[in-house]
Amino acid sequence: MEVETNNMSSHPVTQITGQLTRFLFGAVRYTPRDPATVIAVMNLKGGCGKSTIAVNLACELAGNADSVLLLDNDSQGTASQWLAHGHLPVQGEFMPLENDEDGERLVRAVAARNERYVVLDAPAHVGAAALAAGKIADLVLVPVTASGVDLAATRTVVDLIRRARVLRRSAAPKCLIVPSKIDRRTDAGRQIDEKLRSFGENVGPTVHQRTAFVEAFGAGQWIGDYAPQSSAHYDITSLAIAVKRSLRI
Ligand SMILES: Nc1ncnc2c1ncn2[C@@H]1O[C@H](COP(=O)(O)OP(=O)(O)OP(=O)(O)O)[C@@H](O)[C@H]1O
Ligand SMILES: [Mg+2]
Repeated sequence: MEVETNNMSSHPVTQITGQLTRFLFGAVRYTPRDPATVIAVMNLKGGCGKSTIAVNLACELAGNADSVLLLDNDSQGTASQWLAHGHLPVQGEFMPLENDEDGERLVRAVAARNERYVVLDAPAHVGAAALAAGKIADLVLVPVTASGVDLAATRTVVDLIRRARVLRRSAAPKCLIVPSKIDRRTDAGRQIDEKLRSFGENVGPTVHQRTAFVEAFGAGQWIGDYAPQSSAHYDITSLAIAVKRSLRI
């Protein structure tokens, strides 16, 4: 007697559907997630414009429809105060870096994120922040003002970046030294680019001394919202272009 088997799995349509499902789910499961591009803004000198550059650059990058996370690694919380107004077009988190454990937490936290960019606003001290940034950054921006003391602090950061490259056996992190708060009417302001080139790293577009940056911070806005047609915004747009060129994006 012939037994009717109702085995649907052998039906050609079911087989094709099954293969398609396995292919799709397999693809989802095994597609590696692109890691975030990490940009650290770092110098051991206080007040050189790190937070101003980190916040405005993060917002400029977000303006090109890229997802951006701004991490405030400075216990002073400047970037967090800026974010607290609720006017910035980026997400941010306060993650101060004071010791090695904080550094390890940062490395793990960044690895778990899926934003296109993570911008770190680092504190002005060597140690956990610098080491963690050296470990994970694709690019370190080093803002430098025109004062003599700044150049000594910059040497320390550049040495640190070079040590990180040796440890990582890689060209990463790349480095862009950014003349910051520059007044071209002064001798120091006119000579800074040449001095910075002597470090043997790329020197980025200048962020000039502009009151609009201070006012934008006071208003809790980034410069592209506060003064979109201004020279200050132009400086940040130029910086974002130079950042992408450095990263070859
Ligand atoms: N390009 C600029 N033109 C004019 N003022 C600026 C500029 N960049 C920063 N400032 C002002 O200089 C001061 C210090 O800037 P900022 O907080 O960005 O520096 P920082 O390096 O992050 O300082 P800290 O080491 O304290 O974290 C702020 O009052 C800021 O508004
Ligand atoms: Mg700061």
